[in-house]
Amino acid sequence: MSNHVRTQLLDYLACPNCETETPFDVQANASQDDGDIVSGTLTCQSCQCVYQIRDGIPRFVSLDQDYCRNFGFQWKRWRTLQIDRLSGHSLSTDRFFADSEWSPSSLEGKVILDAGCGAGRFADVAAAHGATVIAVDISDAIDACQETTAVHGERVHCLQASLLNLPLRPMILDAVYCMGVIQHTPDPAAVVRSLPSYLKPGGQLAYNFYEEGIWRCLQIIKYALRLITPHLSVSKNLALSQFLVGLFFPLTRRLAKVPKVRIINHFIPIASVHNAQLSTDDQRAWTLLDTLDWYGARYEKRQHHEDVATQLHDLGMAAVRSRPGLAWATKPEK
Ligand SMILES: C[S@@+](CC[C@H](N)C(=O)[O-])C[C@H]1O[C@@H](n2cnc3c(N)ncnc32)[C@H](O)[C@@H]1O
Ligand SMILES: [Zn+2]
Repeated sequence: MSNHVRTQLLDYLACPNCETETPFDVQANASQDDGDIVSGTLTCQSCQCVYQIRDGIPRFVSLDQDYCRNFGFQWKRWRTLQIDRLSGHSLSTDRFFADSEWSPSSLEGKVILDAGCGAGRFADVAAAHGATVIAVDISDAIDACQETTAVHGERVHCLQASLLNLPLRPMILDAVYCMGVIQHTPDPAAVVRSLPSYLKPGGQLAYNFYEEGIWRCLQIIKYALRLITPHLSVSKNLALSQFLVGLFFPLTRRLAKVPKVRIINHFIPIASVHNAQLSTDDQRAWTLLDTLDWYGARYEKRQHHEDVATQLHDLGMAAVRSRPGLAWATKPEK
């Protein structure tokens, strides 16, 4: 059920090398009875670039372009942890609708890009509400997303590709969301500026990102450690994160219960998660996942929301709004 490229996805694709919309020449080494492809190649009929389809996912990045192997590792290891449907909480659903400001009923029948999907926590929510989701990630987190969202069948299409060079045709999408990704790319402004081009007129955009500001001062130990950690292997960062979480989690958990004192948690160098919907074991697992995310990411380029809004304005986007960590816009009707 899971590992095949749905032929419908081919209608959305364009060559990321020459950007022509000529259909790909599709070579299937293995396909299903319904024609969906498990493995094979896509060859651009214009520039002759060849892209692999492996495990049912078209791959538009080579190993050396993937600077996010830490994310591939973390999303495979904790694939189900943040998926509401599989973990018995509603944290991803709550965050998706709070951050996008879209209503659940508005998603039905929409074609939506999940830009930097990770393990697919939000793709799973959007598909469950009737959207068709194109889920894209640069790392092999995309394999985790494919496994997570297989249950939605044709509602989710997975692609391994970079947001800085997307293999998509312009103006095919009703909406784009990009949650927790922009700051982890080498050129956040380029991502902010590129995604609107895939929206249809009237299409909506929601960005969530790390805000620049006070956090860098509060998290002084984190940023001191990050002078080194992006250069370490995933296994060393995992060992460091396990050590820090083992040391500090019991303390942050106790502090989190005391309203005026819990601010202290911001100085402690773990990404502590204490939410009443989660068991203590799950709080510890989320904390370890998020702590590894902090230390393992190659890039962490915090953004000023006013700058993100200005970039969207300058593109001619309408209804641009922003507040710390969030920005929204609509593509103008012609
Ligand atoms: C912190 S994770 C967030 C994942 C998901 N959006 C979520 O909130 O659970 C950031 C994700 O962005 C992906 N990413 C980073 N740079 C990317 C790029 N240039 N193109 C596509 N994905 C990228 C990483 O591989 C990683 O899975
Ligand atoms: Zn081409």
